[in-house]
Amino acid sequence: MSSPFPRLTADEAAALIQDRDVIGFSGFTPAGAAKAIPRALAARARAEQAAGRPFKVGVITGASTGPSLDGELARANAVLFRTPYQSDPDLRKRINAGEVQFFDMHLSMLPQAVRYGFLGRMKFAVVEACEVFPGGEIVLTTSVGASPTFCHTADKVIIELNRAHSPALRGFHDIYEPRDPPHRREIPVFSVRDRVGSPVVTIDPSRIAGIVETNLPDECGKFEPPSDVTRRIGLNVAEFLAGERRRGTIPSPFLPIQSGVGDIANAVLAAMGEHPEIPPFEMYSEVLQDAVFKLLRSEKLLFASTTAVTVSREMNREFLDNLDFYRRRIVMRPQEISNHPEVIRRLGIISINAAIEADVFGNINSTHVLGKSLMNGIGGSGDFTRNAFISIFVCPSLQKGGKISTIVPLVSHADHSEHSVQVIITDQGIADLRGKSPHERANLIADRCAHPDFREALRRYVDHTRDGQTPQSLGRAFAFHEQFLRTGDMRGADVG
Ligand code: COA
Repeated sequence: MSSPFPRLTADEAAALIQDRDVIGFSGFTPAGAAKAIPRALAARARAEQAAGRPFKVGVITGASTGPSLDGELARANAVLFRTPYQSDPDLRKRINAGEVQFFDMHLSMLPQAVRYGFLGRMKFAVVEACEVFPGGEIVLTTSVGASPTFCHTADKVIIELNRAHSPALRGFHDIYEPRDPPHRREIPVFSVRDRVGSPVVTIDPSRIAGIVETNLPDECGKFEPPSDVTRRIGLNVAEFLAGERRRGTIPSPFLPIQSGVGDIANAVLAAMGEHPEIPPFEMYSEVLQDAVFKLLRSEKLLFASTTAVTVSREMNREFLDNLDFYRRRIVMRPQEISNHPEVIRRLGIISINAAIEADVFGNINSTHVLGKSLMNGIGGSGDFTRNAFISIFVCPSLQKGGKISTIVPLVSHADHSEHSVQVIITDQGIADLRGKSPHERANLIADRCAHPDFREALRRYVDHTRDGQTPQSLGRAFAFHEQFLRTGDMRGADVG
């Protein structure tokens, strides 16, 4: 079919973008991220800056992207501001050096913030597609993220038509955007499998500024095989869930699972897959990683709703070779829907996310090391945790060769409060916080989740305060962190 849209090189597309423009790029962890235009834009920024002209752009995405987008733009010092989630080492460095203004957002809220105009005028949407039709129908690739909103909101849309993705991805996507208040109605997703929208994003064709043809695979990383520690965390999660089903708090057909990103998440899903008392289940999540595809193949997982398919190179081959099999078992929704509080609460999702640290009261730090250095961002963990049927956080009890305890007296940065966090699970054990007072929680978390090297100190910290509703000592709350800053080791911290 001949296309009415201008064909551009990546450099020609980048030349349309001006200093201080705000751009919405496709991409989610980093599936479906734009790749060629951001690279060309970084080159343009370098050339402009070398000529003495400022050149930076506001970068809004679905979530983290790959080295061609966040990495290239960060290295070119071309990022004015950035939101939401990111995970690129070079961008992280710029953010923590104060050279990029980063503001973190719940992923479900990003699209509506763009539509409401809270983040300024979006000049361009730069979106990866596997097919574009003359009527303005766009078939997205391995993620949906916030792309539908970017396409509908930006002044102009530039498309990276990526031949590395098969046009047979059509049919995976379910594009649905809620209306804005005061006209919003219920989101009609009543089961994990419900499709409520369109397989394509449709825009007025006159808003498509051009198409850049590419042939670039997604830049997804590798996953490590489970270690002893991640395997034990996985087993503890699977045991906990099987126990809840046994005692009837989780209905016996089971409830949909949300699982975070990373190696712990892969190990948790693998353990759930092997547990004889966990029946075949469904997922309502935001990212599908390698473990999900193995579970779908073994039919332990029956169906998965997501906003992105983020798999290793090897699993991507398996996915591409079996698109018909997976199309019947996977739906990709906008992040506004995959992470929507209304749907999460309605469906009774069990959320499982990783923490950087947890305190003895059940507060969780997902984002900052030692209270100040950004790791990645809150991602969807807040969307799911706050609205889950049961919210679970997992982490190894130790980090950095045992010098850091992930269980601390008080988190150095708070992302999820004790009111939202119901269960904490480490390689050491399980702390079920439901129905427990702060004193009870503190003892439980110290005893069940902390590593033996730190248990005694945490017990002392908790025992120290007998008065008050919460056993807190303002003078000692950061004793672990302060000692680490002084000596590089939390062990032996003086908690009083
Ligand atoms: N102190 C210092 N460093 C810590 C730490 C702590 N308490 N906890 C973790 N880290 C470091 C690790 O050492 C590791 O560093 P490295 O890259 O130098 O090896 C890094 O953080 C990642 O930790 P890791 O144990 O490998 O786990 P992970 O890859 O599963 O990441 C989070 C853990 C919390 C950073 C990650 O899950 C995240 O970004 N979460 C927030 C978003 C989210 O939850 N999304 C879920 C919805 S999909």
